[in-house]
Amino acid sequence: MGRLRLGVLISGRGSNLQALIDAGRDAGFPAEIALVISNQPGAIGLDRATQAGIATRVIPHRDHADRDAFERALDQALRSASVELVCLAGFMRLLSAGFVAAWHDRLINIHPSLLPAFPGLDTHARALAAGVRFSGCTVHFVRAEMDRGPILVQAAVPVTANDTEATLAARVLEAEHAAYPLAVRLIGEGRVRVAGERVMIAGASAPAAVLLNPLAD
Ligand code: GAR
Repeated sequence: MGRLRLGVLISGRGSNLQALIDAGRDAGFPAEIALVISNQPGAIGLDRATQAGIATRVIPHRDHADRDAFERALDQALRSASVELVCLAGFMRLLSAGFVAAWHDRLINIHPSLLPAFPGLDTHARALAAGVRFSGCTVHFVRAEMDRGPILVQAAVPVTANDTEATLAARVLEAEHAAYPLAVRLIGEGRVRVAGERVMIAGASAPAAVLLNPLAD
């Protein structure tokens, strides 16, 4: 069986795209990036794709009359590259219910919090303000409501007393770079099933029973 064909949608830096590129270098990884699309012409992630020999398209939302036209262009590009799974990786445009329905259970996103906590923007500032002891990231199937949908993979990181938005973001980003390739791997291996809006993963092992933060000295 061939590798699962990915379409990765970005708007900027593309470090999660890079994590997927790096994972794909392993011949045993069950997915390959067929196309990278950016809505921002200057996105650094485009250079990462080009350097890896991956096809890129720039589809600026501003060049389209409305969101429908923009999404039709996205959809067409993805289909003509025979994309089977769309991965949002720092793609900062909301997708309409129509697009999301057309790619139902074939469209995933990574978000820098433990959803359903802190959907939307400024996640790290809000996590710090709330005093949470753990934050992390979530890879989930996309539904019409922003940052909602069946959860595939989460990674938790501790929040420390000295954390700033920048230090927490960096810790979470490192977790993202492990979580996104893992989620794609699980789908590519055919181990993922969505039942009743929850994700079932065949053969996954149980994580540690308890994480405690802070630890007493
Ligand atoms: C990542 O932290 C990702 O989780 C976040 O944007 C960053 C993109 O970084 N996505 C969202 O906030 C979406 N709601 P990257 O371009 O280096 O992958």
